[in-house]
Amino acid sequence: MTLNSATVKKDFPIFKALPKLVYLDSTATSLKPSSVVTAETEYYTKYSANIFRGIYKISEKATKEYENSRIKIARFVDADPNGVIFVRNTTEAINLIAQSWGNEHINYSDEIITTVMEHHSNFVPWQQLSKQKKAVLKTIGLTPDFMLDTENLYREITPKTKLVALAHISNVLGAINQIKKITAEIKRRNPNCMVIVDGAQAVPHMKVSIKDLGCDFYAFSSHKMLGPTGVGVLCGKVDVLNKMKPYQYGGEMIEAVYPDYSDFKKSPHKFEAGTPHIAGVIALGAAVEYLQKIGMENIRDHEKKIIVYAFKKFKGIPHLKIIGPTDIDSKAGIFAFTIGHVHAHDLAQILDEDDICIRAGHHCAMPLHLNLKIAATARASFYLYTTTQDIDALVLGVKKSIKLLT
Ligand SMILES: Cc1ncc(COP(=O)(O)O)c(C=O)c1O
Repeated sequence: MTLNSATVKKDFPIFKALPKLVYLDSTATSLKPSSVVTAETEYYTKYSANIFRGIYKISEKATKEYENSRIKIARFVDADPNGVIFVRNTTEAINLIAQSWGNEHINYSDEIITTVMEHHSNFVPWQQLSKQKKAVLKTIGLTPDFMLDTENLYREITPKTKLVALAHISNVLGAINQIKKITAEIKRRNPNCMVIVDGAQAVPHMKVSIKDLGCDFYAFSSHKMLGPTGVGVLCGKVDVLNKMKPYQYGGEMIEAVYPDYSDFKKSPHKFEAGTPHIAGVIALGAAVEYLQKIGMENIRDHEKKIIVYAFKKFKGIPHLKIIGPTDIDSKAGIFAFTIGHVHAHDLAQILDEDDICIRAGHHCAMPLHLNLKIAATARASFYLYTTTQDIDALVLGVKKSIKLLT
């Protein structure tokens, strides 16, 4: 089935409120369909109670819906529901691993490997942990075609490498890393090395099977996959999670508390201290149902068509340089670009006058921009509601901006 993005747009109430909107910033956060808004509102208007504690009907309903969401999400990404932990966002998921698993297992002179294409949320926690533990942080660079230099990554794996943290898809380059192959090769060289994957840009846009990828941890954010803000997901191997220390202490994560010690629950509840974002988790379940109804393969196919269209249209713009791979199978719907001396921020501001939303800056990927010696890029990113008319509007807007700025 091919996806009709003009029809899809009708499911997103923002386009009714802002009919002229050309939204090309789904990498930062996606728009939300009505079914997600309804699911969130329904919790507040029909069964707004806390979970686990109540023995009355609306609390039982809230608990059931919350736990049903966990099962829906586990099925969606092919993970064990007991290894699906709700946190606030990808950033918190990665910090959880760093502070719980990392704090316990990383010692002096151990090696942590990350890459130059990481979002700060998958870079800074490892940088800080390595400083704290006096461990060695290695950062893997790129090939000339803006892909991860996997040969260099493999060469850097030693018996001292405790973990490799890398993105499934770069939020600037749009480069898709072959996680299954990369994980297998890392484990072949060092079976004890943990592989931690930042899937924030992958889960919203393509079919992901975490079991098939074989990594130890996988993190993503609800708000980038049509769900509400304030919810993130950490998926991990249950045996590893059960051996880890809790990340935060308090209510809900406890089995029993005595004056001098406490017994904790098992994963996932051991890592969900305090009242969670109940409405958000339930609405994320609705987002997953919506994505499944459309079909992840259809979404990826649609984005590929938009990528091909954008490549064609961008070719006509003088001095425009795409920062990222051009091979369609290695590229997600994320276009970072520069145009000669035109400043990305000026460009974004002028486009905004015509209600065209793009990003400008380093996109929380400063190590990448430093590596490429580029101060800032403009970034347009696509999703299931992106139409070829949106790309036409962007190209027209960019041409107009160039005239004004040069
Ligand atoms: C690849 C990647 N990782 C992590 C994040 C951080 O996500 P969040 O702000 O939801 O924690 C982002 C956000 O843009 C991202 O693109």
